[in-house]
Amino acid sequence: MKAKKKIIVAVVLILIAIQFVPVKENISDIIPSTDMLKMLDAPENVATIFKESCYNCHSNNTNYPWYSQISPVSLFVDHHIAEGKDELDFSDFGNYSTKRKSKKLREIVEEIEDDKMPLTSYLVMHGEAKLSEEEKTIIIDWVTKVKSSL
Ligand code: HEC
Repeated sequence: MKAKKKIIVAVVLILIAIQFVPVKENISDIIPSTDMLKMLDAPENVATIFKESCYNCHSNNTNYPWYSQISPVSLFVDHHIAEGKDELDFSDFGNYSTKRKSKKLREIVEEIEDDKMPLTSYLVMHGEAKLSEEEKTIIIDWVTKVKSSL
């Protein structure tokens, strides 16, 4: 019994301690001119889908739910954002070379067709981000059109 109590105390102390690990929030007030949706003048319905399903991890603006401010969730979320932006940052899209833009647009179609994005772990808490067949078609059609006019 004593050992069990010690473990519980240790876990609680660790949970308290990790609240002090600093996490920089990924929130910006401005939408830069290099933002993909702005730059390519995306229609409203396309922009809404990207913002709802992808922008939390692939842009400078994350809409944080309350529980994501608590460690270890915040550390997990922060890691996903850093990794997601590293692969593709919609806020920085305008600074990509034409070749990179084209590659990323192709990857967007692939990820959506294969149901790899949004990440499954994200959909558990964000049911609204799951793409319907109709939304997938809207995104894929728009991305294909944009890609051919690069
Ligand atoms: C929970 C955060 C999260 C969300 C939401 C999310 N992504 Fe990602 N995305 C990631 C991470 C992390 C990676 C890098 C690791 C990987 O490929 O799994 C990534 C990688 C990618 C890549 C590069 C894949 C490659 O071939 O290397 C593309 C393209 C992409 N995401 C598109 C999207 C699109 C489009 C959406 C919205 C429909 C989206 N993502 C939503 C986190 C996310």
